[in-house]
Amino acid sequence: MMTSWLPSLITETPEAGYELAVKLSRLAVKLTQPDAEMREQLRPDYAEDADSLIAVSQVVATHFATVAAANNYWRG
Ligand code: HEM
Repeated sequence: MMTSWLPSLITETPEAGYELAVKLSRLAVKLTQPDAEMREQLRPDYAEDADSLIAVSQVVATHFATVAAANNYWRG
């Protein structure tokens, strides 16, 4: 059976949940631009642009909201 790249949204801690949010964000970029060379070429553009970095943060925040909700905000 093929291993799922997203077996669960449940994480032990909020920190691990945030890492999952970053992973989800990066995966969308990888899926929409499968060419690794092209991604490497584009990396300096966003890495050195404040607005791009704010946009990155916003995408991660959106995923984090989903992950946090799925984990009932780690209320235990
Ligand atoms: C590196 C996140 C969008 C290409 C990184 C790193 C993070 C990150 C955290 C540092 C990894 C490390 O040093 O260990 C994100 C997020 C994105 C995003 C959350 C969108 C919401 C993009 C886009 C491109 C890109 C649009 C290019 C099309 C790269 C490349 C690297 C990198 C080439 C360096 C190689 C690597 O560490 O894999 N990104 N990124 N990223 N990103 Fe992004």
